[in-house]
Amino acid sequence: MPVIRKLSGLEILDSRGRPTVRASCELAGGVIAHASVPSGASTGAAEAHELRDRDLKRFGGLGCRKAVETISGELNKALARDIANQRELDEAMLKLDGTPNKSRLGANALLAVSIAFARACAMEKRQPLYQHFADILGNKAPTLPRMTINLFSGGKHAGGQVPIQDVLVVPARAKSIDEGLAVTYAVYHAAAELIHEKYQMRLLRADEGGLAPPAKSAEALLQDAVQSILDAHLQPGRDVMLAVDVASSHFYENGRYQLNEQSLDSAGMIRTLREWVDRYPIVSVEDGLAEDDWPNWPALREAIAGKAIVVGDDFLCTNPDRIRRAIDANAASALLLKVNQIGTLTEAADACRLARSAGWNVTISARSGETEDDWLADLAVGWSGDQIKIGSITQSERLAKYNRLLAIEAETSLSIVKWPN
Ligand code: PGA
Ligand code: ZN
Repeated sequence: MPVIRKLSGLEILDSRGRPTVRASCELAGGVIAHASVPSGASTGAAEAHELRDRDLKRFGGLGCRKAVETISGELNKALARDIANQRELDEAMLKLDGTPNKSRLGANALLAVSIAFARACAMEKRQPLYQHFADILGNKAPTLPRMTINLFSGGKHAGGQVPIQDVLVVPARAKSIDEGLAVTYAVYHAAAELIHEKYQMRLLRADEGGLAPPAKSAEALLQDAVQSILDAHLQPGRDVMLAVDVASSHFYENGRYQLNEQSLDSAGMIRTLREWVDRYPIVSVEDGLAEDDWPNWPALREAIAGKAIVVGDDFLCTNPDRIRRAIDANAASALLLKVNQIGTLTEAADACRLARSAGWNVTISARSGETEDDWLADLAVGWSGDQIKIGSITQSERLAKYNRLLAIEAETSLSIVKWPN
């Protein structure tokens, strides 16, 4: 049984230059593991609470000293003992916190400890991290995920020049991670050239490294994506598909979607999404409707069933209660799984199992504020994520994960999962 000797925290900076949390977990056997947690910008209202210092004189109030002190203080005091397994650790932390949304100790503190402990256990067992994650979930057959990779960005990640957040490349026919990245490189550089010529501008990159051209509408961005695939001498809809993160909660006001010049009700928004799916090779639609627009999600699923998966991000917040409700209502067909939306590995594993029990896809996702830590790649493999969403191929905090996938691919004979449609 693992015995925790010491837990400690460190405030570090994420890819947007904002503070975040790193935890270290030392086991009695001498192993020391570290884990850093990410942070979102376009967050869902039902996410677990991220503890920030709110001291406006330091990092505009975003400091994480309190979360770090919690790890080195209260959590270390209570948990430096023998811990049977991940569930015991996570449940002990939940009990200590005692709030429904982790607002006392902070989901950032809890998740950092949760993952550092998992990594320490894997190191002690001399197991690759993805294998240990697979054991936590009870997954007997890890696989390599299908990548969905940011090409264009808008919304909250890019200053809102178009309301939708991401247009992503899906190298659906690539037989390996390596081939998928090579295909994406070709499309990304074709897009960069197209943007340069069309908009006469140097490249501006958004939070996740996506290109952020001043397109006039979401449709223009989708059209540019198709043109970039063609310019890369690839066939849209065959070699390369598209995914969209509409992130529509962020342009939903008083029951209406403010999409560029249009103000749409829910039925109008569903019609628009259906048109996009018909006109462009879109195989995944994330947060097509707002997180509060519950009654209309089943109609969205119905409207694009068989063409694209209906992914819930802000809508579900990796929260088992929300996922259960969505399964009962037939309101989605895929879970976007962000571990820090819920705050511990054990609860995220429960969310993953629940989604799978309904036959849903699971997309393992990074956040807009990331670190150089690469555990997300191991999680996607260990939990057999159907998709992984990391961001663009241009920034080190994203590449840490892509490069870890490449390493896992090279070291194993694991195969890449097929696109569901
Ligand atoms: P976030 O964005 O990390 O800023 O929430 C990612 C997403 O919406 O998928
Ligand atoms: Zn999203």
